[in-house]
Amino acid sequence: MRIDIITIFPDFFEHIFNFSIIKRAQEKKITNIKIHNLRDYSLNKQKSVDDYQFGGGSGMVMNIQPIYDCIKQLKKERKYDEIIYLTPDGEKLTQTLSNQLSLNKNLIFLCGHYKGIDHRIREHIITKEISIGDYVITGGELAACVLSDAIIRLIPGVISDETSALSDSFQDNLLAPPTYTRPSDFNGWQVPEILLSGDPKKINKWREEQAIKRTKNLRPDLLN
Ligand code: ADE
Repeated sequence: MRIDIITIFPDFFEHIFNFSIIKRAQEKKITNIKIHNLRDYSLNKQKSVDDYQFGGGSGMVMNIQPIYDCIKQLKKERKYDEIIYLTPDGEKLTQTLSNQLSLNKNLIFLCGHYKGIDHRIREHIITKEISIGDYVITGGELAACVLSDAIIRLIPGVISDETSALSDSFQDNLLAPPTYTRPSDFNGWQVPEILLSGDPKKINKWREEQAIKRTKNLRPDLLN
C-alpha cells in the first residue's frame, strides 16, 4: 500500500513512522509512505497556502490552488482508491473503516489547518472525510498518523502473528480480554489460575467471557 500525505508540516512526520511495526512494514516494502510539502505547490513568492475567508470572519482558509496542483500531480503518477481529508466533521474512524481502508492500494491523506480548506476541494476532489474522534486537534497531521497506523497494521504480513491483529479490541465489536505475563505472582497479585492451566479450550472460553464482561461494563454501546 502506498500512502501520500499532503501537509504544511513535513518535518512532523520525520520520526513518527520510524518505529516498531510501521517501520518494519516499510522495510518489508509492504507499505510506502511519502510526505509532500504543500508549500512546494504554492505559486506565489511567499509560498503561502492560506488566505482570509470570503464573507469575513476569523481564521484563515487553505487555498485551492496548491492542494489542487499537488493532487493533480500525484494522480498523474498513479490511480488512487481514495483521497481522504482529515477533519473533525468527517466520518468517525472505527475498526470497521480501518479494515476496509487496509484493502486499498493507493491512498492520499490531506492534512487540514486553520479554519479548514476551501470547500470546493471537498466538493470536487476529496472522496472521503475522516475524523479520529469528536474533539478538535490543531491540525490533520496527528490524525493522519493515527489513520496510517490503524490501517497499516492490518495489512497481511505486517504483524507476524496475524491472529494478533484479529484479536484486537473492536475487531469483533468486543473489547480485548485482560492479558498477563511473568511472574504469575507479583507481591501476592495472582494471575487468573485458568491461564496457567494449559487447557486451550478452557482458556479461550474464559477469554471470550472476559471480553463480553469488559464490553458490557466499559462500552455497552458496542453490544447494540
Ligand atoms: N483535525 C482537527 N481535528 C481533527 C479530528 N478530530 N480528526 C481528524 N482531523 C482533525
